[in-house]
Amino acid sequence: MASGTSRDVVGRGLRVLGRAIREQPRIFAVAVTGSVLFGLMVIASAYVVGGVVGKVVVPAVARGSVTDGALALAAAALFGISVLRVVGIFGRRLGAGYMQYRLQATYRRRVTRRYLDLPLAWHHRNATGTLLSNANSDVEAAWYPIAPLPFAVGTLVMLVGAVVSLFLTDWALALVGLAVFPALFALNVVYSRRMAPRQARAQRLRAEVSGIAHESFDGALVVKTMGREAQETARFAARAGDLRDALISVGRLRGVFDPMLETLPSLGTLAVLVVGAIRLRQGAITVTELVSVAFLFTVLAFPVRAIGWVLAELPRSVAGWDRVRRVLDATGEMPYGEVALDPATPAPATLAFHDVHFGYEPAEAHLPGTEVLGEVTFTVPAGKTVALVGPTGAGKSTIASLAVRLVDPRTGTVTLDGVDVRQLTAASLASTVALVAQVPFVFDDTVRANIALDRPGIGDEEVWAALRLAEADGFVAALPEGLDTMVGERGTSLSGGQRQRLTLARALAGRPRLLVLDDATSAVDPRVEAAILAGLRAPADGGAPASILVVAYRRATIALADEVIYVEQGRVVARGTHTDLLATVPGYADLVTAYEQAEQEREQTRTYDEVTPLTSGLEVEVDR
Ligand SMILES: Nc1ncnc2c1ncn2[C@@H]1O[C@H](COP(=O)(O)OP(=O)(O)OP(=O)(O)O)[C@@H](O)[C@H]1O
Ligand SMILES: [Mg+2]
Repeated sequence: MASGTSRDVVGRGLRVLGRAIREQPRIFAVAVTGSVLFGLMVIASAYVVGGVVGKVVVPAVARGSVTDGALALAAAALFGISVLRVVGIFGRRLGAGYMQYRLQATYRRRVTRRYLDLPLAWHHRNATGTLLSNANSDVEAAWYPIAPLPFAVGTLVMLVGAVVSLFLTDWALALVGLAVFPALFALNVVYSRRMAPRQARAQRLRAEVSGIAHESFDGALVVKTMGREAQETARFAARAGDLRDALISVGRLRGVFDPMLETLPSLGTLAVLVVGAIRLRQGAITVTELVSVAFLFTVLAFPVRAIGWVLAELPRSVAGWDRVRRVLDATGEMPYGEVALDPATPAPATLAFHDVHFGYEPAEAHLPGTEVLGEVTFTVPAGKTVALVGPTGAGKSTIASLAVRLVDPRTGTVTLDGVDVRQLTAASLASTVALVAQVPFVFDDTVRANIALDRPGIGDEEVWAALRLAEADGFVAALPEGLDTMVGERGTSLSGGQRQRLTLARALAGRPRLLVLDDATSAVDPRVEAAILAGLRAPADGGAPASILVVAYRRATIALADEVIYVEQGRVVARGTHTDLLATVPGYADLVTAYEQAEQEREQTRTYDEVTPLTSGLEVEVDR
């Protein structure tokens, strides 16, 4: 829940509503007009009913017969009022609905757009689950009070109108109104204040329950294989129980307050009848006026609740809005430059790091950020292949992210063909470099869409060419619908090696001038991995090879590189050819040998998917 007292929650909530009104002023005006029309008609109906009783029924009872003309007039008036009331309700509902859902859609778009603009560094600090709920339930919660807002505004106008008409009728009856309306209002305020923390708690528990459910589906493999079904079920049951209790406490409060809110206006009607009877006897008011006022009290009760609905939603709205604003106000996007790197004939690019220092920002601002890379200087000359080798956590993926400008250095520069990457346009960067990330990501779409990504100039021919380069044409051709096969989340499941090669083909299809492979073929059979790299270095079509920065472990792969950069703890420790480093750097030799041994052991128990094409359950789940 938002911090602060409930008073400033109301103040802040009203400011959020003010923003909503400023964003959709016309629709809001329509809704409020409808609501005010409704309110005025409610008052009017009370006076017409009073008129019918006073001018038609009472004389009729006295006389024993009804005057047709008066009755017809009253009927026509009531009918007219009903029609206007319906129009008012229609305008209010339609306006409120439009306003609420439009705001939701607008802010969902703004939030997701912002996610894409924010740098990777920001995403590193924010959990996926939180981002999902920002875009969904937080946006919804922020605009919940919009639904009853026009009703509440119309009701306020109506209450003022009611009090004025009471004073015009009789001061004594007006005093009853002045006692009852504020009491009704106060009761609503107390109700919503009591309700707010309970609702907030229920909301939080809802999120927790769905979080646990999500985690146990996601981790179903672990849960099952570790025999943790009972514990997981218990964990879920405990939270679900808490949610039940929270919702029951909401219901209990409703049970107490709803009857009070129903009863208060009835007591008001009773008071009106008592006071009114006295005033009637004194000759201060007529029967018409008494019936009108009594009826007014009964019809006012319901609309007054609308004010309570708005107040009850404000805390949730403020909490949701705070979280939405945190995303919208987040800073740190990386502005692109103006320089375009578009050589007439695509030639491999030169990548250079000059004394680059980098550190991830701490998850919380007060924690110190540690340096992950320091004094990193190296070059990938045009058309050459450089292998990046180092123990886990050494900073290889970080170097890869810097090379394609997913993050910017703290100090130092990264250049492409001599131009600082910060000066390049987005399009130039996208067409020059391609990263195949350590964790392959496949969209829930067809193979074709996954590779082409709607980029111009990438037709089926280019897709197949890229697949061939990535040694993926074989398995794609064998898929039930070839390029049209759906893959990813709900499509055909791919093995880890297949996924990797698909993402590699995606990178290759854009014919990048610099290719950054972050451990991108580790799940592929070693022989195939070497074949892929050899193919990239010497394209079959005779074209110029791309420059390649490759994070690798396998001896066969590393041996193909023109140069090897060996990193340890964020520093370049040694560089040279594979053979040189094997002979001179003990750490390097140990790492390569250890990896090789581990791989051999693995190979005895595991077959790569190239050997046994697999699409069956368990292994696919392990890949995810
Ligand atoms: N998003 C992040 N936030 C904070 N620290 C990070 C983040 N990503 C990586 N690090 C840290 O930066 C250092 C370098 O990580 P990096 O991923 O670059 O290593 P790596 O060499 O790619 O390792 P691996 O071989 O396991 O892939 C590690 O100490 C890691 O803990
Ligand atoms: Mg890595």
